[in-house]
Amino acid sequence: MRFRGASTIALGAVLLAAASMAACATLPETVDAERSSSGAVSALPDPGNLSDARLVDVLGQRRSTRTFGPQPLNDSALSALLWAAQGVTSEWGGRTAPSAGALYPLELYVLTADAVWHYLPHGHRIEILPLSGARPAVEEAIGQEAAASAAALVVITAVPERVAPKYGGRAERYIALEAGHTAQNLLLAATALGLAGVPMGAFADRAIAEALGLPSAQEVIYTVAVGHPASASTER
Ligand SMILES: Cc1cc2nc3c(=O)[nH]c(=O)nc-3n(C[C@H](O)[C@H](O)[C@H](O)COP(=O)(O)O)c2cc1C
Repeated sequence: MRFRGASTIALGAVLLAAASMAACATLPETVDAERSSSGAVSALPDPGNLSDARLVDVLGQRRSTRTFGPQPLNDSALSALLWAAQGVTSEWGGRTAPSAGALYPLELYVLTADAVWHYLPHGHRIEILPLSGARPAVEEAIGQEAAASAAALVVITAVPERVAPKYGGRAERYIALEAGHTAQNLLLAATALGLAGVPMGAFADRAIAEALGLPSAQEVIYTVAVGHPASASTER
């Protein structure tokens, strides 16, 4: 009964409360910005549109889906996905996904049909990157139909230097674990929004790093394709 009671709490109540913290964080931006190029920065809309989802429903409905409809994702949906993945939810900078030692080694990139964003968790903002050729290059580096047809590709990267001084040989393990937490948050948010998604671990790391112009200290860990579900999809 305890589980049942907990599971019927509206997911959105938790998410909305945490979302209100997004603008409160005070950590310096250099924690996030590991890129040499700096594009235009924009605030994302409030991620509160997850508010009606029930955790028990979302957990039961999440399924990897590899066929997508042609509709793009609106900024509201992208905002909610990014916030769920790595949004700041506490005054001291704590985020939706746990992080070993609260060192937050991950970075998120979103590639839509016509834009490439780098997520800045503090202040829930994006840096718009001038990388017009990146999307086809990343699709090719993944080489799966889902990557070509999804409205958005999310690339999760890591800066090992943020965790290696403290965790040494366990740093890579912690990075992989954190990428898993982050991807799952993102996939659950996608489910809550009625979207489809699939995590993809099979890709050419270097080709994605080159397409995104990543600094050498940053490595590609995981990718997630997200989009509207194809109508009448019968995929398992
Ligand atoms: C680490 C990891 C890597 C994965 N890589 C891929 C991939 O490259 N391509 C793909 O289509 N699915 C990939 N998947 C999705 C799995 O195939 C999927 O989770 C599995 O079939 C179970 O189905 P479900 O996600 O619907 O529960 C990956 C899943 C994980 C956890």
